[in-house]
Amino acid sequence: MELESAAEFSFRKTPADLAGLQAALRKTLAAAGPRPAPGDHRRILNLACGRADETGVLADVLGAGSASLELVCSDLRPREIAEARERWDQRGHPAVETRFIAEDATRLFDRHALPEEFDVAFLRHQNFWNGPELWSGIFDRALQRLDEDGLLVITSYFDHEHALACEALEGLGAHRVASHRNPASRRLRDAPGKSVDRHLAVFRKAREIRTPGS
Ligand SMILES: C[S@@+](CC[C@H](N)C(=O)[O-])C[C@H]1O[C@@H](n2cnc3c(N)ncnc32)[C@H](O)[C@@H]1O
Repeated sequence: MELESAAEFSFRKTPADLAGLQAALRKTLAAAGPRPAPGDHRRILNLACGRADETGVLADVLGAGSASLELVCSDLRPREIAEARERWDQRGHPAVETRFIAEDATRLFDRHALPEEFDVAFLRHQNFWNGPELWSGIFDRALQRLDEDGLLVITSYFDHEHALACEALEGLGAHRVASHRNPASRRLRDAPGKSVDRHLAVFRKAREIRTPGS
């Protein structure tokens, strides 16, 4: 589903980074195996989203084929969330509802009335390295809010953090169904070994997808 952003991105390189993310996301999801037929309504959770620059990419890739789409995007930082809202608020769109919430992800579901289940939970550039306990808690909550056939998708800036985050998710019972080292990932000059959406991984909550009647 195509969304139009209401304002230019803050950084010159963002559009190219998003094009890279879009291609990498499509590729990784294709490698994740069959997905249940898209329901009429799809719910996407974008946690620790910062400015949520990728909102249009998520709607396009994850919302493809659905009649309507609900995007809940949340981050601890109010300023980034305000910027995201300004850029991506879809009020007036007949089929898309966006919500941007400034909140601690470990309290999000206690403090806000949100859908019980999401089809996809997304965490771009998860920050596991900076707080394994905190991020394990965030991953756990995201997994709990996934539909049985739901997917959790992470991207990472650097190899070691990605490996640790994947390990933590598997420890929480998630099943990794696809991994991708993004060849188009832009190197960060001031941070050797880090690059934009360097790794992607897709996890299923359940080992098998449900078939009708099962
Ligand atoms: C590496 S940044 C990634 C931001 C964004 N997803 C991106 O790719 O640009 C990590 C984000 O985690 C957010 N964060 C840290 N602790 C958080 C928490 N407890 N709840 C929600 N967001 C948190 C930060 O505010 C920051 O925006």
